[in-house]
Amino acid sequence: MNSSPSFAGSVVAVAGGSSGINLGIADAFAAQGARVAVVSRSRQKLDAAVERLLIHGGEAIGFSADVRDPEAVDAALSAIHQAFGDIDVLVSGAAGNFPAPALGMSPNAFASVVDIDLRGTFHVLRSAYPYLTRPGASIINISAPQAYVPMAFQAHVCAAKAGVDMVTRVLAMEWGPAGIRVNSVVPGPVEGTEGMKRLSPTPELQQAVAESVPLGRLGTPMDIANTVMFLASPLAGYVTGAIIPVDGGWSLGGASVVAARMAKATGESD
Ligand code: HXC
Ligand code: NAP
Repeated sequence: MNSSPSFAGSVVAVAGGSSGINLGIADAFAAQGARVAVVSRSRQKLDAAVERLLIHGGEAIGFSADVRDPEAVDAALSAIHQAFGDIDVLVSGAAGNFPAPALGMSPNAFASVVDIDLRGTFHVLRSAYPYLTRPGASIINISAPQAYVPMAFQAHVCAAKAGVDMVTRVLAMEWGPAGIRVNSVVPGPVEGTEGMKRLSPTPELQQAVAESVPLGRLGTPMDIANTVMFLASPLAGYVTGAIIPVDGGWSLGGASVVAARMAKATGESD
């Protein structure tokens, strides 16, 4: 068995790849020699991300699109195809989040997160499908523990990410016969990210989160990237429709304990 999959020359597209965990994933593939395309809204963030990816000496490119706009997503995927050819690995991780009680969410606030996380994922996968023709092609959706751990002040994210995981499972069934594997990776709390800043805004809260993780620490983007690369590799050639937590065991219990504390802190700051 190979222990270290190589992605030299592979084409990897990462939606939401201009920062945080998704940029960490893009960077890990670039370090393995992949040609990497990142998609997000901000041109400035994309340019900075591409600069970082190019440090590995390969090819990288950034396309601006809002995943809520199916035509813009179509154009971005088509541009990636023109630049690099067919896609080997598609990572879909664009997401939005803010803590708010359900009654403090306007209909548009709830819709914004569902539109980015869930409908955006659908747009990205649907637009990429024609380009996922290579043997071993696979999709990894980036989910969140909110998909299966109910968290107060997170009604929009819980609904959206539960939907993402169900899209993963349904498309694994529909697209398996075409040779495309579809899986979800579920990061736990990851240090230094926008998501952590928004949900655990104080050092005390971050410490409480870290202590609630059975493995005793917050995750890193590389922890997440390692599992994404495994799923994208031939080592996972018989894995599809799987929802894989990469969270140090957090969702086994710590997530609900800390969710209650986060909810209290968020409620107090409202
Ligand atoms: C209540 C809020 C709000 C808040 C925004 N809204 N922030 N409502 N409380 N704190 C409302 C607005 O008033 C508006 O409704 C609606 O949401 C849309 O807001 P806009 O600012 O117009 O939207 P937009 O510019 O499209 O921005 C989308 C966004 C933003 C989701 C609101 O935060 C964003 O771009 N986020 C991307 C980065 C991000 O969130 N990263 C973290 C991902 S972490 P009205 O009715 O006024 O029009 C993650 C999981 C982490 O996903 C898990 C950790 C364990
Ligand atoms: P982040 O840095 O804010 O990453 C979000 C990415 O999505 C950015 O590249 C952002 O770039 C892009 N994006 C947001 N809205 C978009 C839109 N409408 N269209 C296109 N791109 C959009 O957040 P993160 O904390 O690293 O989270 C990354 C992923 O991990 C998300 O899927 C999140 O749900 C998941 N996750 C995070 C944690 C955590 O601890 N942080 C835990 C569990 C799951 P632009 O602003 O340029 O658009």
